[in-house]
Amino acid sequence: MTRALLFALTLTPSLSQVAVASGAAEEAACMTCHKERNPGLYTQWYHSEHGKHGVTCFDCHSADKGDADAWMHEGALIATLVTPKDCGACHEQQANEVHASYHAHAGEILQSADAYLAHAVGGDPAAVAGCESCHGVTMLIDLTQENHLSRETWPNQGIGRINPDGSKGSCTACHPRHSFDKAQARQPEACGKCHLGPDHPQMEIYQESKHGNAYYTNRDLMNLRSDRWIVGQDYAAAPTCATCHMSATGTQGVTHDVGARISWTLRPPISTHKEGWEAKRDNMQDVCSACHQETFVDGHYRQFDGAVNLYNEKFAVPATAIMDKVKARGVMEGQAAFSNDIEWVYWEIWHHEGRRARHGAAMMGPDYTWWHGFYEVGHHFYFEFLPMAEAYGDPEINAMIEELKGEDMHSWMNRPTGDIKADIRSGELQKTYSHMFGAE
Ligand code: HEC
Ligand code: HEC
Ligand code: HEC
Ligand code: HEC
Ligand code: HEC
Ligand code: HEC
Ligand code: HEC
Ligand code: HEC
Repeated sequence: MTRALLFALTLTPSLSQVAVASGAAEEAACMTCHKERNPGLYTQWYHSEHGKHGVTCFDCHSADKGDADAWMHEGALIATLVTPKDCGACHEQQANEVHASYHAHAGEILQSADAYLAHAVGGDPAAVAGCESCHGVTMLIDLTQENHLSRETWPNQGIGRINPDGSKGSCTACHPRHSFDKAQARQPEACGKCHLGPDHPQMEIYQESKHGNAYYTNRDLMNLRSDRWIVGQDYAAAPTCATCHMSATGTQGVTHDVGARISWTLRPPISTHKEGWEAKRDNMQDVCSACHQETFVDGHYRQFDGAVNLYNEKFAVPATAIMDKVKARGVMEGQAAFSNDIEWVYWEIWHHEGRRARHGAAMMGPDYTWWHGFYEVGHHFYFEFLPMAEAYGDPEINAMIEELKGEDMHSWMNRPTGDIKADIRSGELQKTYSHMFGAE
């Protein structure tokens, strides 16, 4: 039986019309054969918007002759990878926005301290199955493999995957195939594969926040399958990650650049404002204003700024200066990075606890702000980091720490408890921090 005939017998009339129109027997055969081999994959595609609009397997998987990952398959030249560039043939705007976003750079991590840890302390298989599964990897070509993709890097759907055609990312990271359902991407779970855990617990913070509470109580009111999804008009029960970071408001369209509404970067040892941060903050506050009044939103941002400034001034700036001094004084000469305790403690202060404190304050997760955040930062700073630095017995390092301990924010360690409590009751101690909330 020819493939075309088999196809005609198996598929619905509307689909065969699509294939006949494009005139390729090979194109029709994709569906027929893979329906037998992978009925789940076929069904996901068949019920998707792509299936309904006649976007076939070959429309996405076809390849050009020069493509590094092209292979001959059942009489057709195809590629297993369907990159942002391929999707961009029909969804140009989304592909451009993804390309311009921070997500597109997530695969460029090999020079980071995180990557050093993964490779030196762990080992390559840990980096492949761990880091690179979230961040993405440079896809390697192996012509001895049937699909031309090296088994060391395929499968991989990391958010910043570096593709053989030069494009970055994988749309499947948020739009799982083969349904490519936008309702799925609107839910917090779409982000939760990556945005969780000890160093960036956005998912856990969301779940504990009132916003998460309202979402899980009212999922049936969220109108997730609606074509249009404008906050305040098409749904109002709760915001999801997508609502705040990507989706439309009455005045803003959907954006695939997740950095478009972010004013601080909360990832590095010391937080700084992003370029053009005021406009980005306005974009986010416009989302809030669908459900809250301006004064309420402004109050939230002051509290958030206060927490970031506190983390910076009280802990991050001095800890970083002391760590730099420790390195400059040569007391660790000849030691490999992270072959000592102090670097691990400094690392956990900013990369784990310090991020949790900042992320909790940004997204209304009080438990992360304090118990998983500042509480841990303070404990490690005073009772591990400073004593370890002092233990080197270096006069310059010790003079720095002495001076720090004399500052108003840190002097509590050398004062009688009764005096400190009296200063808290009178509001005197709080004044030390009042500038951190910003000017009225
Ligand atoms: C006669 C059955 C048959 C037909 C027709 C067919 N395939 Fe396949 N496909 C397979 C088999 C079997 C494999 C496993 C690799 C192999 O043996 O070639 C496969 C593998 C693939 C893969 C690679 C999966 C991976 O993990 O790398 C893709 C993508 C794919 N097919 C898409 C298509 C497309 C697109 C078409 C239409 C142009 C098509 N197939 C036509 C049977 C078929
Ligand atoms: C809208 C575009 C699109 C359409 C239509 C599409 N695919 Fe895919 N397919 C993808 C993407 C994206 C991936 C993941 C590849 C990647 O990570 O780049 C994929 C992966 C695959 C894989 C390998 C992964 C796995 O789970 O085994 C196979 C096989 C495959 N597709 C077959 C098909 C077949 C058969 C059809 C038609 C029934 C089809 N595809 C239709 C985009 C598409
Ligand atoms: C040949 C053109 C074509 C290609 C290639 C293509 N799409 Fe589509 N896509 C469409 C059409 C047509 C629709 C349905 C009409 C619409 O929503 O615009 C659609 C709809 C969608 C939707 C909305 C689905 C929903 O639930 O409403 C998403 C998400 C999507 N595509 C993602 C992708 C991704 C990701 C890729 C690449 C893996 C891709 N598309 C490749 C044409 C294409
Ligand atoms: C569960 C998914 C996941 C894993 C596993 C993971 N990361 Fe990340 N990583 C993320 C997310 C999400 C962010 C962004 C967090 C944020 O913005 O707060 C991030 C941030 C980073 C950053 C900061 C980027 C910047 O520009 O500031 C680096 C570097 C990094 N990760 C490297 C690694 C390395 C190396 C590994 C393995 C040792 C790893 N990550 C493991 C998800 C992951
Ligand atoms: C970070 C997650 C994420 C990634 C990565 C992502 N999308 Fe989306 N996408 C979404 C969300 C969320 C929506 C729903 C927005 C809404 O309607 O509120 C969406 C909606 C869409 C739609 C429906 C039309 C629209 O703009 O609302 C298309 C088409 C689409 N995405 C294509 C793509 C393509 C193509 C890529 C890769 C270049 C991609 N997406 C990558 C999260 C993502
Ligand atoms: C497959 C993993 C993955 C998924 C899924 C994912 N992200 Fe990310 N996201 C990352 C990584 C990794 C980074 C850090 C980028 C870097 O290291 O360059 C990041 C960074 C971000 C940033 C910081 C942007 C900036 O400019 O500072 C935001 C906001 C964000 N993601 C939101 C989302 C939202 C919202 C979703 C779901 C709709 C989502 N992400 C889905 C991995 C992911
Ligand atoms: C109510 C709105 C809202 C919701 C819901 C929300 N966020 Fe955020 N998110 C924010 C705000 C506000 C900030 C801080 C913005 C700034 O810096 O100005 C932020 C910051 C971030 C950052 C940047 C962190 C960094 O290290 O720089 C990431 C990543 C992020 N959110 C991801 C998520 C994810 C994933 C979810 C869902 C699990 C989510 N957000 C839910 C409002 C929200
Ligand atoms: C879709 C509607 C919606 C959007 C958009 C929204 N919120 Fe909310 N928000 C709620 C609901 C519902 C509650 C719970 C009401 C309550 O506290 O009784 C809430 C509660 C809050 C709370 C109180 C938290 C607590 O623990 O009591 C703050 C603060 C807040 N939102 C700030 C924001 C900020 C800032 C933004 C924008 C970045 C935002 N919200 C976006 C609906 C929304």
